[in-house]
Amino acid sequence: MPPSQPIKAARGVRDVMAAERPVWEVAETAAREVARAHGYQEIQTPAIELAALIERGVGQDTDAGGKELYRLVKRGSEDLVLRPEATAGVVRAYFQHGLNQGPQPARLFTMGAMFRYNAPQLGRYRQFHQLDVEAIGDASPAYDVECIEMAVRWMEALGLRGLRLELNSIGDRKCRPAYIKKLVAYYRPLKDRLHPDCQRRLETNPLRLLDCKEEQCAPFKAKAPRITDHLCVECAEAFAAVRAMLDAGGLEYSLNPYLVRGLDYYTRTVFEVLHEALGGAQNSLGGGGRYDGLAAEIGYPDTPAVGFAAGFERVVMMMGEEGEEVIAPPSALVLVVPDGPLLKEAAEVGRLARTMVPTAVDYSTRSLKAKMRAANRLGPRWVAIFNAEESARRVLQLKEMAGGEQREVGWDELPALLEAELTG
Ligand code: HAM
Repeated sequence: MPPSQPIKAARGVRDVMAAERPVWEVAETAAREVARAHGYQEIQTPAIELAALIERGVGQDTDAGGKELYRLVKRGSEDLVLRPEATAGVVRAYFQHGLNQGPQPARLFTMGAMFRYNAPQLGRYRQFHQLDVEAIGDASPAYDVECIEMAVRWMEALGLRGLRLELNSIGDRKCRPAYIKKLVAYYRPLKDRLHPDCQRRLETNPLRLLDCKEEQCAPFKAKAPRITDHLCVECAEAFAAVRAMLDAGGLEYSLNPYLVRGLDYYTRTVFEVLHEALGGAQNSLGGGGRYDGLAAEIGYPDTPAVGFAAGFERVVMMMGEEGEEVIAPPSALVLVVPDGPLLKEAAEVGRLARTMVPTAVDYSTRSLKAKMRAANRLGPRWVAIFNAEESARRVLQLKEMAGGEQREVGWDELPALLEAELTG
C-alpha cells in the first residue's frame, strides 16, 4: 500500500539545494583557510557516540543533553546517541589516538552535522551543521583569544558585518561553587515569583538562571550577584589576560555578566558571537569557551582546553543578507545533444569534452527540438549537437548558446578548441 500522502522531509531539517550549496562551499572553504592559517588540522569524528560520553560531557539539563538528545534504539549492549555537538567527541578522539602524548596543544577542527531534538524555528534545526575548533592541552588564555579571533575572522571573511562579541568568565571548580551558593541564597526567597523554568533551574542548574530571557525574572536577574565579582585569583588573572589580548589585537567585545552558555562543561572564559540582524533567542552565530573539566568528566586525565563552534545554517543565512553575492555555477558548460539514439557516441563526446570543462549529456529519447528547449533551461555555454551521419564522420556542431554561433568541429579537436575558448 502506498502512503496516503507523499512522504516529505522530517520536521526541523532542511535541504541545501543547488542554488544555495555554493554559498556553503564558500563558507566551508573559508573555515578551512582560517583554521589552517592558525595551524589547526582537520579531523572527522562519528555522528554517533556512546550515550555516556555525551551525557557526561555536555551534562543532562543542558541545550544539548537530556531531553534534546536523540537516542538510538538499543541494538546489542551499546547505548548510542546522535551527537548534539562535537566537542566531547573531539576530546575523546584526542585521547583515544594518543594526541595527549604529542605536542600540546593539539589544534583540531571539524565540520559536520549535529542533532538536537528542539522546537524548530528559523535558525534552529534538529539537524544542523557546525564548524568546531578546539585547542586541547594548554591552559594559556592566549588560546582562548586565538579561538575568539578565528571565529570572528571567519565570519568577517564571509562578508558579515554587524557582529558583536560578548565575553564573560564563569570561574572554575575552585571559585564557582561558592558563587553558586551565593546565587542560590539570593534567588531562594524569590522562587515563587520566578518563571516555572527558572524555579526548576534553581534546583537543577542555578547558573542558568542568569541565562533567563523571561521578563518576569529580569528585575531579579539585574540585582543578582555577578560571577565576575567572585572569581578566584587565578580565574581573575586569566580573564584579565584574555581582555588585554583582545584589546591588543583590536578585537572589540562587550562584557556580558549573564553569559553562561548552554552546556555544562565550561570553565573561565565563555564567549558568543552574535549578529544584530539574527532575531530573538537564535541570535548567536557561534560560541565557545574554556572547558578544563571536560576530559576528567569523561574519564581521562585532567586536561585544559578551549574551543568554539559556529552554525553553518545561521552563518549562511547572514551571508545571504549581507555577505558578498555567490552565484551558483551552471550545472555544465557543455551539453552534448545527440539527435537520435546515439548513446555510446554521446558518451564518447561527453568524455572528450569533460577533459576540459564540466560536461553533461542528454541521454533522453526526446526529439531534438525538445532537447534544445531543455538545453535552454539548463543554460550551458555550448551545446554539442550531432546526428548519425555526423557521428560517422566524427564531427559535431558546436553551438554557442548566447550568440547562436555554430561551427563544425571534429570530436578529437573538441578538447583543444574548448581550452582555447576558455583561455582566449
Ligand atoms: P553551542 O552554543 O551549543 O556550542 O552551538 C554553537 C553554534 O551552533 C550556535 O551558536 C549556533 O550557531 C549553532 N547551533 C546550535 N544549535 C543549533 C540548532 N538547533 N540549529 C541551528 N544551529 C544551531 C557548542 O556546540 C559547543 N560545542 C561549542 C564549543 C566548542 N565549546 C567549546 N568548544
